[in-house]
Amino acid sequence: MSLGVTKVVIPAAGLGTRMLPAAKAVAKELLPVVDRPTIQYVVEEAADAGATDVLLISSPSKRAVERHFQPDPRLDDRLKSPEKAALLASIRSLMERVNVSAVDQPEQRGLGDAVRCARDFVGLDPFLCMLGDAIFSGDVLPAAQLIAAHDRLRTCVIGVEEVPPEKVERYGIVGGVEVSPGVLKIDRIVEKPSIASAPSRLAIAARYILTPAIFACLGQTPPGKGGEIQLTDAISLLLSRGEVVHAVKLSATRHDIGSPIDWLKTNLIFAARDEKLWKQIAPLARGLLDVTSRGSAPDLARDTS
Ligand code: UTP
Repeated sequence: MSLGVTKVVIPAAGLGTRMLPAAKAVAKELLPVVDRPTIQYVVEEAADAGATDVLLISSPSKRAVERHFQPDPRLDDRLKSPEKAALLASIRSLMERVNVSAVDQPEQRGLGDAVRCARDFVGLDPFLCMLGDAIFSGDVLPAAQLIAAHDRLRTCVIGVEEVPPEKVERYGIVGGVEVSPGVLKIDRIVEKPSIASAPSRLAIAARYILTPAIFACLGQTPPGKGGEIQLTDAISLLLSRGEVVHAVKLSATRHDIGSPIDWLKTNLIFAARDEKLWKQIAPLARGLLDVTSRGSAPDLARDTS
């Protein structure tokens, strides 16, 4: 029987500096992947896994993030015909499945500080934490995989993915002992280690199930890498206090949207997953490949479809 992780915290208050200037007035979490804002995929993943209550960590300059999950009477009025109503169907049906609320992170002091803002919402329950700028493709998405793992293990559970050696410096990296296929009991966790000091190549992959014990640790975590309060450092403190934390290798593939190149790649990958859409994009992609392989600048004005 599921122990019922139903609460979800989605940090989405960051400044998104790698995505500037695109993210100056529009939250990066609202930038679209094909037809919908990135954060809608994140909330869909949570709802599909059985979550019922979502808290967005937001900020006064990112009000549009929570507005996306509220009804808009003007649009509802304009889109009355069944054909047009389909345009909003995905967000409307999502809103019937989950309650979405928001709280502000007063100052952008890092991911750990953002999670700390969820203390009242979380109360005494374990909760799912999902970064608002990463989405996944695959048969079993991380929220469902981690909830199932938490039901079995009854501990904190962190989703991880193997990254190439040259990328370990970009992520939080875990070390530990494999206790069953794809599951490690973590004994070390380090934020952005050098290749030489990294305990493994298993990177924390934007999805966690945490217990409320994390809040006491966050309260005692000083600023770390980049001068930010790191969630990884608070989890490290949790470990040092004897709390068991497992890492689960995610079966789905992670796609980030936090930099222009990652966002473009994610859009192409998600477009290619939609057969009808890809039929329209493929000729253009082939045409661009042809032109660039001949060494000339692609003529973007010419529609090759
Ligand atoms: P990132 O580190 O990728 O986001 O945090 P960032 O700080 O916005 O991006 P850059 O580095 O300046 O380009 C991962 C997630 O955590 C949220 C972000 O909004 C993102 O969804 N976050 C980060 C917060 O909510 N608050 C923070 O202080 C930092």
